[in-house]
Amino acid sequence: MRTPLVAGNWKMNLDRQAAVALAQAVCARADATQGVDVALYPSFVYLEEVARTAAGSRVAVGGQDVCDQEAGAFTGEVSSAMLRDVGAVTVLVGHSERRHVYGETDALCSAKVRQALAAGLQVCLCIGETLEEREAGRTEEVCRTQLLAGLEGLSAEQMRSVVLAYEPVWAIGTGKTASPEQAGEVHAYLRGLLSAPFGQAVADATRILYGGSVKPANAADLMAVPDIDGALVGGAALTAEQFLPIIDAAASTDR
Ligand code: 13P
Repeated sequence: MRTPLVAGNWKMNLDRQAAVALAQAVCARADATQGVDVALYPSFVYLEEVARTAAGSRVAVGGQDVCDQEAGAFTGEVSSAMLRDVGAVTVLVGHSERRHVYGETDALCSAKVRQALAAGLQVCLCIGETLEEREAGRTEEVCRTQLLAGLEGLSAEQMRSVVLAYEPVWAIGTGKTASPEQAGEVHAYLRGLLSAPFGQAVADATRILYGGSVKPANAADLMAVPDIDGALVGGAALTAEQFLPIIDAAASTDR
């Protein structure tokens, strides 16, 4: 019912040549593989070239962030319209590095979500707790607050363009993955939260990705969990050797 999605967040990695070569390899695999959607999030400066490389393939290309404002005097920012103009169809909002390194608030993330959707982009809203919050037993509370704030005011129709990514901060770039049970519990909780504001059909249809040290070795076990609908991959998305097997794992998961 929900087609799994495997997304590569390249963060501030890869040069132009490496980005294009990797995009070519990912497009070739995605086009040869049924039953999985694939997305790539390159740096802004290579986005147009990566989108051109992916044109006509099954791979969606998107920005890692977007401005909450439509246009104007916002030095250093990139608008939704600009992203669309260079070929982006999707954007990450609220990645933990934006929240925790650059201090983005729930209110800012919410404004970004609304701005991006209004411009016709799909949104991947990222949420997740820190280690301190998990150890204090606050995982559900933190995820609920981030989720409901990020999606505030959206219609059920707009939710068709939203994907969620649960990325526990303690699992990002650390080599520590949430176990399938730990991740599955949070995913089921998040899906449950969607039904009150948006209805059961939206809760059932919304894809919830897991992110945090996803590797070829753990991808199949994570994606076998019924509420885990794919992966948002950082480090292992930077080489074809590691990323392509994750695409394959998602495609061969029984749904
Ligand atoms: P890692 O896969 O490197 O842990 O990064 C996850 C992530 O932040 C993807 O957005």
